[in-house]
Amino acid sequence: MAAMPAVRSVYVCQQCGAESPKWSGQCPSCAAWNTLVETVVARPAPGARARERASAAAAASIEPIGQVSSAEAIRLTSGINEVDRVLGGGLVPGSIVLFSGDPGIGKSTLLLQLAARLATAGMPVLYVTGEESAAQVRGRAERVDAVVEGLGLVATTDLAAAIGAIESTAPALAVVDSVQSLSSAELGGPAGSVGQVREVATRLAEVAKAGSTCVALVGHVTKEGTVAGPRTLEHLVDAVIYLEGERLGATRLLRAAKNRFGSTDEVGVLEMRGDGLVEVPDASRFFLESEQPPVAGSAVTIALEGTRPLAVEIQALVAPAGVGSPRRATTGIDVSRVLMLIAVLARHAGLNLTGHDVYVNVAGGLRIDEPAADLAVATALASSLRERPVRAGTVLAGELSLAGRLRPATRPERRLAEARRLGFERLVTGRARDDGAAVPAPAGLVTASDVRGALAVTLEER
Ligand code: TYD
Ligand code: MG
Repeated sequence: MAAMPAVRSVYVCQQCGAESPKWSGQCPSCAAWNTLVETVVARPAPGARARERASAAAAASIEPIGQVSSAEAIRLTSGINEVDRVLGGGLVPGSIVLFSGDPGIGKSTLLLQLAARLATAGMPVLYVTGEESAAQVRGRAERVDAVVEGLGLVATTDLAAAIGAIESTAPALAVVDSVQSLSSAELGGPAGSVGQVREVATRLAEVAKAGSTCVALVGHVTKEGTVAGPRTLEHLVDAVIYLEGERLGATRLLRAAKNRFGSTDEVGVLEMRGDGLVEVPDASRFFLESEQPPVAGSAVTIALEGTRPLAVEIQALVAPAGVGSPRRATTGIDVSRVLMLIAVLARHAGLNLTGHDVYVNVAGGLRIDEPAADLAVATALASSLRERPVRAGTVLAGELSLAGRLRPATRPERRLAEARRLGFERLVTGRARDDGAAVPAPAGLVTASDVRGALAVTLEER
């Protein structure tokens, strides 16, 4: 039998990270097209695996389960609550966390601030920059008040040099900015290629696991197909945190897409200022611009971003259209969802918007994808068209079907409680199918079964 070559190729899907032994146009795992990229992997020499296992088994110590400490892991808390909460209480020593987001969204800024906070609290931090020069990072550090003791900088694009620096200093936190800018000399292929990105993440995960350093890895979300997307990294890291927001707006949302040490439901709200990212303490109020008494065209929903309810104002403007086809423009919400709601209003509530321009805006720069926002959008449109404000003290949450039925929002009590905290009195939502039976609705919860019924209770009488 011929000896196995020391190096072989696999084909790695850039979308889902699945490996295939041969190339094909479509990923056999996730069915994405043209996402397989050849990646060279080193194969250990015959016998090496067995030897490795034998020595590893000797090194691994077996502990009776009763003697294993179950204490909640120590957390590196930054004191930036919006960030600590999303992380599940802080960063965990010996873990690797991927911080992902669009280029320019503020990942480097966030991690530099996090690094400075930890360093100030006596936890040494190493910041590895492969993307910007040390001088550029220093410039940013001056802006965000991060020129502090205990924060070391290394500018390198070489993975081995980065690992060497981490191992020799054993910091509490090592920021690696970014996974796409580092590469291993042992592996072919340019920095940012699927093979390199996986190698960088794998090796850094090993470094984190071997010691008590937490590795915070920055990864750009990139147009699929150009370089490895963070999706291919998700299973290599302990947590994936996304920083999102509109490039031009100042609001930034921090979310966990995966978190081995906490829930993935939490949302952190931050604002990009001239001196870095600052916390938005009472986020719910932040997304609320509503005037009291309410004006026509405005409706408030309580969105459930994870476990955290957020009061969000939806603004609609309906105005007679000029010549040509009417305009439909939205900010912060999918325009096709609004088109569907316009059709539902026409068909099931007798509100015809064909001769009108329609503008819908989500206040505060937030983006809403939750179908439970349907009722607030439909109500804002109806309110603007009829020039009748929403009844004072009312918030709305519920998904509308094409048939005009109103579905109940998930966790209505949670949403109602947040509405109450902000001074609202009632939440209008869909009626559960088995309603009318034993469980009485809590005070303040008003239900309707369809869009027409909902509008009858939400809009002010004229
Ligand atoms: P950056 O952290 O470099 O983004 P990323 O690492 O995700 O690519 O942030 C880039 C943007 O943030 C840039 O457009 C400038 C802006 N910014 C501020 O508004 N205020 C600040 O204090 C800093 C440091 C950056
Ligand atoms: Mg950056």
